[in-house]
Amino acid sequence: MSIDLSVNIAGVEFKNPILTASGTCGYGEELADLFSLSRLGGIVTKSITVKPRLGHPPPRTAETESGMLNAIGLANVGVDEFIEKKLPFLEKFDTVVVVNVAGAKIQEYVEICTRLADCPRADMVELNFSCPNVEEGMGIATSAVLAERAVAEVKKVFGGPVIAKLSPNVTDIAEIAQACESGGADAVSLINTLVGMAVDIETFRPRLTNNTGGLSGPAIKPVALAMVHKVYQAVKIPIVGIGGIATADDVIEFLLCGAAAIEIGTALFVEPDTPVKIARDLKKYLSKNKFDSVKQLIGQLRIYS
Ligand SMILES: Cc1cc2nc3c(=O)[nH]c(=O)nc-3n(C[C@H](O)[C@H](O)[C@H](O)COP(=O)(O)O)c2cc1C
Repeated sequence: MSIDLSVNIAGVEFKNPILTASGTCGYGEELADLFSLSRLGGIVTKSITVKPRLGHPPPRTAETESGMLNAIGLANVGVDEFIEKKLPFLEKFDTVVVVNVAGAKIQEYVEICTRLADCPRADMVELNFSCPNVEEGMGIATSAVLAERAVAEVKKVFGGPVIAKLSPNVTDIAEIAQACESGGADAVSLINTLVGMAVDIETFRPRLTNNTGGLSGPAIKPVALAMVHKVYQAVKIPIVGIGGIATADDVIEFLLCGAAAIEIGTALFVEPDTPVKIARDLKKYLSKNKFDSVKQLIGQLRIYS
């Protein structure tokens, strides 16, 4: 039986539902030595900002129980160098390129997406509203009004599909998802990291120079699943699930909760070829359970009433 792993999000065809998560695979070059990026459904590049950023001083990552904390501070090459030097590298791969964009103000998202509109290889953009480590960035992530306006402004300048990436550090993530949908978002992705902290008991110092950071990895998977489940009931646009995914079983949980595709982040630091293994194991599961398409799993959770 031939198994179809393809999914379609906002008219874009992905050969499988497995994407890499922003900030965990650089601009693709970092992973390309380990496996062909053409095996991915899509690659999401590191957040880019208008100007290059050095980010926070080290230490900016710390291992925690079943996860990690990071406060990279959006270190990136800036939009000019990204378009000139990083995007061309991705052109040779047969995978969907999703360019993740961050900014302190709505105008910065608009400026970057205006530039990306002229780049045929920027298949989609993902708006990072939710980076918890840049103080001014949290305004858009936590405000339904600002999130809706940001998406609407970006939609005016970027011709391709727009994904709004949501923060879990809010009172009601479904409300922000609905605002993004109203603003014209083609999809939402969730979750970004949860605000966390780790302390060195010898020095009495936080383990990160930013004092707090973003928690990711298996520790956040139950939170992410609950949020995907909640958002699935609140919006009609597709959901890209993110948070602690390391195995095909994890992916299946997200699909059942309503995700149409998923992104893998922290697991890439443990085993960089995790996406390849997951694609293989996903096929095995579908075959064993007599499904011929991965799409048959999306939203099939049987909740207790
Ligand atoms: C080291 C590191 C850097 C990250 N940088 C970004 C970033 O630049 N932009 C962004 O939208 N998310 C960033 N994230 C968040 C991830 O894309 C993802 O949403 C989060 O880590 C949860 O997924 P995971 O548990 O699979 O890692 C980063 C995560 C990590 C661990």
